[in-house]
Amino acid sequence: MAVWAIETPVQADTIDSLIGNTPLLGFRRVTAHLPENVQVLAKAEWMNPGGSVKDRAASNIIREAERAGKLTHDKILLDSTSGNTGIAYAMIGAAKGYRVKLFLPENISPERSAILRAYGVDIVYTDPLEGSDGAIRAVRELAAAEPNTYFYADQYNNPANWQAHYNSTGVEIWEQTNGTVTHFVAGLGTSGTLMGTGRRLKDYNPDIQVVSLQPDSPFHGLEGLKHMPTAIKPGIYDEHLADRNIGVSTEATYAMARRLAREEGYLVGISAASALVGALQVAEDVAARGESGVIVTLFPDNAYKYLSESFWKE
Ligand SMILES: Cc1ncc(COP(=O)(O)O)c(C=O)c1O
Repeated sequence: MAVWAIETPVQADTIDSLIGNTPLLGFRRVTAHLPENVQVLAKAEWMNPGGSVKDRAASNIIREAERAGKLTHDKILLDSTSGNTGIAYAMIGAAKGYRVKLFLPENISPERSAILRAYGVDIVYTDPLEGSDGAIRAVRELAAAEPNTYFYADQYNNPANWQAHYNSTGVEIWEQTNGTVTHFVAGLGTSGTLMGTGRRLKDYNPDIQVVSLQPDSPFHGLEGLKHMPTAIKPGIYDEHLADRNIGVSTEATYAMARRLAREEGYLVGISAASALVGALQVAEDVAARGESGVIVTLFPDNAYKYLSESFWKE
């Protein structure tokens, strides 16, 4: 009788090995007005095991802290997050046996808090009116008061955040486009995605244009994105890296989220829809100049955590 070898399974503590190498998506209808020599592509980051781009940053932050001896099993992993980084910490923490405590603005989507509770995270809610900055201020106080109890991951100031993208996202985009990428467009939250991917792509080819996206007003519905002029500036954010910055409106984003679901079959999250609004603007400018281009953006997550938003009903 033949004995079949079982493929080596992924063990929980090697869940990191499933992160990254996400597919590159193309479009038909939302790009139908563009000439053939102007291509728009997006990385499907919801394919990561925790469901978002933030698996990349969280896993690298944890790996670097373990390597430096800052995160040990007697410490609690502590941070503030608008949701996705928290979900990534929660998943990896559970897989590797670390306790996780997170500070979140109370108005994060009910789906996100439910996921965090399901993973067994200790959640502290902060004033919704103060947004993610209120959560940052509160978590800093606790980290300073009890340094021996917690490992403060500090995603806004931790270089392991942008380095995750320098060593993965940027390399993948270069390889998946065979080095033809001309523009990289991404929204700014902690700015890790834009900083790390942008730096790597510029190292490959300094002519690649890096475009950052922000909400066009301090009062917006673009969960995951920061209006930098009125927010606490992340320590890892270098405003001089991007060649261009585009302000994206909440209304245009919601309309794009509906179009992507109904016309392309991509049920993406809010900041992903913003990313495509920005990428299309860049693509239209390239086309208007009569140039060719390969414009790559990134879809941080899918819509599952935002289905309670009323804009889907329109
Ligand atoms: C849904 C979503 N979009 C965009 C971002 C921004 O990514 P980054 O923090 O790398 O700037 C985040 C970050 O938390 C996010 O959760």
